[in-house]
Amino acid sequence: MKESVTPELILAIESSCDETSVAVIKDGAEILSNIVASQIKSHQRFGGVVPEVASRHHVEQITLCIDDALAEAEVTPAELTAVAVTYGPGLVGSLLIGISAAKAFAWAHSLPLIPVNHMAGHLYAARYVALLEFPLMALLVSGGHTELVYMKEDGSYEMVGETRDDAAGEAYDKVGRVLGLTYPSGKEIDQLAHVGHDVYQFPRAMLHEDNFDFSFSGLKSAFINLVHNGEQRGETFDHADLAASFQASVCDVLIEKTIRACQAYPVKQLIVAGGVAANQGLRTGLSAAVAEKLPDTTLLIPPLRLCGDNAAMIGAAAHIELQKGHLADFSLNADPSLSFSE
Ligand code: KG4
Ligand code: ZN
Repeated sequence: MKESVTPELILAIESSCDETSVAVIKDGAEILSNIVASQIKSHQRFGGVVPEVASRHHVEQITLCIDDALAEAEVTPAELTAVAVTYGPGLVGSLLIGISAAKAFAWAHSLPLIPVNHMAGHLYAARYVALLEFPLMALLVSGGHTELVYMKEDGSYEMVGETRDDAAGEAYDKVGRVLGLTYPSGKEIDQLAHVGHDVYQFPRAMLHEDNFDFSFSGLKSAFINLVHNGEQRGETFDHADLAASFQASVCDVLIEKTIRACQAYPVKQLIVAGGVAANQGLRTGLSAAVAEKLPDTTLLIPPLRLCGDNAAMIGAAAHIELQKGHLADFSLNADPSLSFSE
């Protein structure tokens, strides 16, 4: 008789910023449920995420999301293998809600607790596109991070480049504010960029430097100064052209430096992940650049619904941590500035 194998079922919890999300993941590769409760509407009128407001929303949502994720997956707590939770980087109050819920759930159901780095989660969202092949390079671009991470094997991260100031998503959001767009404005600028032209030729910071680091604050200042100085002279600007010029600068630098990093390291795959990986200009530009300059490298970009914050990605990263035996006890604390270099 054929032996039936019990599937590995991980309940994953993500609450590092302004999305409360809970997922059930089978064998690290199949999403049985991925509930995402966004609180973005509560933050929009403030032009950014208000940490105190975010924590309160997480408190209200977390148990509902856990119940919904289990119900949608048709999984009972008794069938679960482990509970995984994001413990950093992120907002300390927000992280603590997810961590407390995960600990309580793990204790109540006698389950192991798996701590997950949020950025590793973003990277492992690519696991739902294909099996990861090593060595690989990952460009992680979100609201708080812009980094190039080299991986020799599952769960091993070497940061080869990062932003010296603003993250790419942060630059999008700050520039969006100048254009009067609602927060977060990355998606809207992306859409505007497609009907505009790169007429302003903004700076491409650090493009010709011999490293894999980035800088976006000079671009942000150049944009803000152009608009403010112009407005004082009574000039009006075509917002689509401004968006296209800004996006061209961001994408040129991200693409060029990523390609160079992939040429400097022997990579089989290039992963692009994080909220800004939803950017159509970046997706199209990188696909073309990889096809032309890295014929032996496969580009993996998660689908749009897995680019923003979600717990399915945390579950995929947790599967690897569980295999490596990286578990936490109930003293697990939030690490708001957790980084790969620790
Ligand atoms: O990964 P994420 O959901 O949250 C963080 O961990 O930061 O990323 C959110 C960021 C925001 O800054 C948002 O403006 C940006 O991703 N974003 C985009 C696009 N969609 C979201 N940026 C550029 N183009 C987009 N299409
Ligand atoms: Zn994120």
